[in-house]
Amino acid sequence: MSPTLTGKPPIIIAHRGASGYRPEHTLAAYELAIDLGADFIEPDLVSTKDGVLIARHENEISETTDIVNHREFADRQTIKIIDGETKKGWFTEDFTLAELKTLRAKERIPEMRSPNTRYDGLWEIPTLQEIIDLVKSKSAQIGRTIGIYPETKHPSYFKSLGLSLEKPLLATLKATGYQGTDAPVFIQSFEVSNLKELSRKTDLPLVQLLNESGKPFDFVASRDSRTYADLATASGLREISKYAQAVGVNKNLIFPRDSAGKLRSLTAGVSPSPTFLVTNAHAAGLLIHAWTFRNEDSFLPLDFQGNPQGEYELFFSLGIDGVFSDYPDTAKQVLRP
Ligand code: G3P
Ligand code: CA
Repeated sequence: MSPTLTGKPPIIIAHRGASGYRPEHTLAAYELAIDLGADFIEPDLVSTKDGVLIARHENEISETTDIVNHREFADRQTIKIIDGETKKGWFTEDFTLAELKTLRAKERIPEMRSPNTRYDGLWEIPTLQEIIDLVKSKSAQIGRTIGIYPETKHPSYFKSLGLSLEKPLLATLKATGYQGTDAPVFIQSFEVSNLKELSRKTDLPLVQLLNESGKPFDFVASRDSRTYADLATASGLREISKYAQAVGVNKNLIFPRDSAGKLRSLTAGVSPSPTFLVTNAHAAGLLIHAWTFRNEDSFLPLDFQGNPQGEYELFFSLGIDGVFSDYPDTAKQVLRP
């Protein structure tokens, strides 16, 4: 068993809330995650037309809300290019908060998580402020500090609209008392330039997200040739450590899978083989948090079908500092049985 960077136990980050059990990014999903043992809850943040930060994984909201049933908004369906991808639907930046509050959340993957559809239509899209209010009241109620782990979604895109995410994010965090390097908050981004900008404006912990392929969209826009694979090298991680305190990585960057979905083995008969990412991140002084841990077999590697606990055990054995999980209770069962 390898140690974490600080020697403290890994943290459990509820990925979009307890999204295995409730429609993601709802106050109910976050509250259940806290009740199930999460240390941090993770809101993905986008902006409304009037500049309010709300929790959605995408700014296009037809997959996770009932907007298609709102005839009054039918004429706002449109096609946009977001970070190079063409999307058709309804976009948060075209609606005021008051309008978005008339919508209700729904389960993203009903075919896989059908029990969660019983909650469709019940809950609003929450604002960042409402999420912080929930975290503070739950922390006081249970006597345990719950952190928040907000992600800036499409930061360059929102900046181009004059709806910068960073300014209201920092203002809200400051107004609600989050300050200093030890504050229970991590601000994450798949882009680089907004994290660098944030590092000049705040000493709150920052997290560079790394995916298993592709490159940060701000690098696409600026024609920077570097990819996520470049950022995940030992030298790339040292560069990241100049502006961030952690990396949040696709777990396949730690244990790559083969084309069949089995964890890759570099030595015949010996399984599975990790990369040096955890070692290199720690050597650069960076915490490393991995995503996304889910219980369903269709998400699990072949090695751990029916055994999500085994997957956590494998990753924790490397000394990772935290996991993003849709099922914080399963992570807790392994970490704090
Ligand atoms: O933010 C890291 C983790 O949440 C994975 O990304 O796409 O689910 O927001 P995503
Ligand atoms: Ca996220």
